[in-house]
Amino acid sequence: MSATRIDGTALAAQVKAEAAAEVKELVSRGIHPCLAVILVGEDPASQVYVRGKARDCAECGIESRVIRLPESTTQAQLLDRIGELAADESVHGILVQLPLPRQIDEAAIIDAIPPEKDVDGFSPVNVGRMQTGQPCFLPCTPAGCIRMIQSTGVSIDGKRAVVVGRSNIVGKPAALLLLEHNATVTICHSHTQNLAEICAGADILVAAVGRQGFITGEMVKPGAVVIDVGINRGADGKLHGDVDFAAASEKAAFITPVPGGVGPMTRAMLMKNTVQAAARQAK
Ligand code: GUN
Repeated sequence: MSATRIDGTALAAQVKAEAAAEVKELVSRGIHPCLAVILVGEDPASQVYVRGKARDCAECGIESRVIRLPESTTQAQLLDRIGELAADESVHGILVQLPLPRQIDEAAIIDAIPPEKDVDGFSPVNVGRMQTGQPCFLPCTPAGCIRMIQSTGVSIDGKRAVVVGRSNIVGKPAALLLLEHNATVTICHSHTQNLAEICAGADILVAAVGRQGFITGEMVKPGAVVIDVGINRGADGKLHGDVDFAAASEKAAFITPVPGGVGPMTRAMLMKNTVQAAARQAK
């Protein structure tokens, strides 16, 4: 059996077209959605991501402001910049690109973003709202994963879902969203015993480990939906996921490629969140 590829680029184009239509409607009412992205330092991967976000904004008709700050920026300076953007009514979304230089406390920075402008969905208020099923900004990567699973036509309801990885920005929220969709969810991590066996029981397998080829073919249940969140730069200089794509494709029914899978969907969901932020702030 060879799995059907879930085309993240095509699905992202659909989501961005939805966002663009919503932007048009807002602009007709005099509201111009605007996303501010703060990039501290010169991390090469972050620079690529930020350029991609600006390009997506342009495609959707969203104004983007990229604020580049030097690696030596202090926490107080960054907090000041966030304070300015928080008070600026023409800015609807604020995103601080992670990771931050080591002199800056990430939690303090995320805390400083007003929840109504936190389009990443990382602030404790949005995390708490998600946990309790209240309206909130959903974190973009997990929300993109759900949309990709839904695109297959496979129902999440009642399925056994396994998430490998327990980060605050992917693993934990992905597990919570799958639970919201009535999956029976297991979270695996570096201390998990019988990892391969647990993965092999998953109808839906989400890999968010950050290690190339970590999920082997034997860890995939025949007919599973496999979502690969990993983006790893291989020794060959190319991008690879956490899943051994060739081996997993022999077993899975549906699988996301890397690149061209979760990455573009994450950015598309950010556009949706930004439009939602602008619409809510206009009320
Ligand atoms: N760095 C890697 N992924 C993300 C993300 O989704 N949001 C932010 N702010 N930084 C990131």
